[in-house]
Amino acid sequence: MDKKQIKIIKDIETIHAEIAALKKNGAKIGFVPTMGFLHKGHTSLIERSVKECDVTAVSIFINPIQFGRGEDFDSYPRNTQRDKSIISKTGARYVFMPEQKTMYGDDFKTSVSVKKLGKIMCGRHRPGHFDGVCTVVLKLFNIISPDIAYFGRKDFQQLFIIKKMVEDLNINIKIKDCPTVREEDGLAMSSRNRYLSEIERKNAPILFKTLQTAAAMTERKNISIKRIKSISLKMLNCNPCVKSVDYFDFRNCETLDEIKSLGNYFKGDARSGILIAAAIRIGSTRLIDNVVI
Ligand code: PAF
Repeated sequence: MDKKQIKIIKDIETIHAEIAALKKNGAKIGFVPTMGFLHKGHTSLIERSVKECDVTAVSIFINPIQFGRGEDFDSYPRNTQRDKSIISKTGARYVFMPEQKTMYGDDFKTSVSVKKLGKIMCGRHRPGHFDGVCTVVLKLFNIISPDIAYFGRKDFQQLFIIKKMVEDLNINIKIKDCPTVREEDGLAMSSRNRYLSEIERKNAPILFKTLQTAAAMTERKNISIKRIKSISLKMLNCNPCVKSVDYFDFRNCETLDEIKSLGNYFKGDARSGILIAAAIRIGSTRLIDNVVI
């Protein structure tokens, strides 16, 4: 297939009909939802979908209802021309780019409500964020009807909540999680990295470094989570560009329950099943990252 032949579709009826016709002929549909301003993390998801599915659709939609008041909806980076050119080189066939009024008409009154899982970690600092994410993802799932949808592990909590939504609401779509893609110095790729000044960008890898250090410390005998947390927070707060730490959490990676003691997390000689996840502010930019042990 000519990799440049992408179809840009803005209305729901057209994308829905095109995909339905392909599915009728037995095509396996892969889907990558994005908010645009694509980076290598996104292209790795798209490329995996292209490899594993017959047809791949990518959506670009900056979803207003997942941004809180005072957050960066208005300034979220946008470059549709560049995005289209990147997608055209991946082998994806469809780009769904709805207008805001197409997704949320004047009479929009229903949303997904995420319970406890949406109120911890990022949800504690961004109230309503995961309701907004799940609402748009469910709408996109209903519009595209993919067989498989691809999400990155950098947003571990988002991925976890979407998997749970799919299970709880009996949505017949397989969710595949894909590794975090990093810059050479370890910084997780994110569209928001664009906000960082030169000096902030230089200091931003402190987040991944601290998470890695914390992960390594869990292997020490008799060390407590309290101690690891205190060392980690010191490491972050000593960095001149770190303005604040929203959270630095130890969680069971299969339940997202908070871990208070490392005692139960041994598999053979090593620890396992632990998610260490954090969100920090570097200047005015909020960065998140995690490691799974
Ligand atoms: O991860 C994102 O970019 C967004 O939260 C998503 C999944 C595209 C929903 O708007």
